[in-house]
Amino acid sequence: MQEHKKIPQITEEEIREGINQCSRQILRILPEFTDKFQTAASKNLFYGKIDNTDWTNGFWTGELWLAYEYSKDDSLKEAAMIQCNSFYERILNKIAVDHHDMGFLYSLSCVAAYKLTGNEKAKDAAIMAADNLLTMYRTKGEFIQSVNMPDNQEEYRLIVDCLMNLPLLYWASEVTGDDKYKNIAITHFETTSKVIMREDGSAAQAVLFDVNTGEYLRQYTRQGYSDDSSWSRGQAWAIYGPALTYKYTGIKECKDMFRKATDYYMKHLPEDMIPYFDLTIIEGDDWPRDSSAAAIAVCGMLEMAKHLEQEEAEYYTDIAKRIVKSLYDNCMVRDPELSNGLLLHGTYCCYTPYNLMTGDNGRDECCSFGDYFYLEALTRLMCDWKMYW
Ligand code: GLY
Repeated sequence: MQEHKKIPQITEEEIREGINQCSRQILRILPEFTDKFQTAASKNLFYGKIDNTDWTNGFWTGELWLAYEYSKDDSLKEAAMIQCNSFYERILNKIAVDHHDMGFLYSLSCVAAYKLTGNEKAKDAAIMAADNLLTMYRTKGEFIQSVNMPDNQEEYRLIVDCLMNLPLLYWASEVTGDDKYKNIAITHFETTSKVIMREDGSAAQAVLFDVNTGEYLRQYTRQGYSDDSSWSRGQAWAIYGPALTYKYTGIKECKDMFRKATDYYMKHLPEDMIPYFDLTIIEGDDWPRDSSAAAIAVCGMLEMAKHLEQEEAEYYTDIAKRIVKSLYDNCMVRDPELSNGLLLHGTYCCYTPYNLMTGDNGRDECCSFGDYFYLEALTRLMCDWKMYW
């Protein structure tokens, strides 16, 4: 920990200025991205426009809600509601929803809309998404499959990212009074915590199971450096995911997983606390950073800090404030001519000879999830934020 004290904590003034800067940027590009959504990552630092068909579309809508909560500017709320209608149509008509990312899509759009405005259509959309997510649950192996291909051995896997889809299920149980959502979420969490974590506290990205028996087969990576390395964003999902499941369930294993994952993460950061895209990359190598992993990890630390004893809570909050300071100084977009995103130096997919990427996609770019989690982190530091997750 000591070495990270080189970076000071972000100040209250900087937190406000960070949120102001992000809100200004969001308002500036709102006309372009109301009926259309942002690509998952920018190209040459500018996002393109896409329809509501990717797993990442919810992040932009989540940014609109965060900026709306801060500024109370009705144009943000109106645009977010237009997008929530699009999310309603998407799940109703089953457009590109044959995968597990229902939480990324619907917690930040429709659950947020319901929590902030009481909109019933948004609530219905989010419950449909939760029902869809349940169809990805596999009794053989007791996990939520990342894609809806129950008979395909090559695809019979869970990935660490899915921990972020579980809050949609906890929320669905709360609003419907039906425990079936929560029970599956807990089972998936328990399976994940058993198979994804390694002795040293690093997390694998993916785990393959036997399609016939459900038996554990092996850990591997899709976007990390190699099968036995630690993909930074995956490690960040392994920090934030348990914090969220803890909030809804109070399961003790969540804290164990959080501590192990965070401690490994902290030991593998370069001096500026912005990780390379894989934590096993050594400083000085010509690999890209992933600022989005830093923003995600911060949100996880700030969430779990709410559930820890004072000394430990202060420890993780202190780290979080130093990481956000580095993001603020080194990654935040300040010039709209440079980029239409919020956070530079993110990496979506980086090709290595040992992963499943066929090329780079979003290497040292803005990423929609990096933007979202940076703004969420600032919001968490500014107020007692009632989360959308
Ligand atoms: N969930 C996929 C990713 O984080 O890139």
